[in-house]
Amino acid sequence: MKFKVFSILVTLFFLLLFIIYPTSALAENVKDGSKIFTVHCAGCHPNGNNIIRRGKNLKLRALKRNKVDTLDAIINLVTYGKNNMSAYEERLTQDEIQLVSQYVLEQANNDWKN
Ligand code: HEC
Repeated sequence: MKFKVFSILVTLFFLLLFIIYPTSALAENVKDGSKIFTVHCAGCHPNGNNIIRRGKNLKLRALKRNKVDTLDAIINLVTYGKNNMSAYEERLTQDEIQLVSQYVLEQANNDWKN
């Protein structure tokens, strides 16, 4: 009897872990993306603006107008750079570029309100 209770508890524990884990991993990703952004991008893009070329900011309207409103397009731009924005392929890992690009897209969709 005691053993049964124990095994039910263990099962519940693992079930809970499976339910909680994916969401916390997701939150962790957003946090990492935002950290990378603060360190590498916010100097020129504070709050999604662009201090060098105002029209090329990271708000959804500008991203759409300049055709960088997909994850792939942002990853591409960050990896290889463009005009006055330098390439990040040697400064960030592919994972980091992916995370920071996801963060930019999420913030754009959220109007940079966080
Ligand atoms: C030295 C300043 C600088 C830094 C640092 C910088 N950028 Fe940029 N960024 C620019 C400039 C300038 C442009 C406009 C490029 C062009 O002429 O199209 C730009 C354009 C962009 C665009 C396209 C915006 C649009 O509306 O066309 C994205 C997305 C972007 N940057 C993301 C990032 C990310 C992510 C980082 C950090 C990894 C970053 N930038 C770091 C200067 C910078």
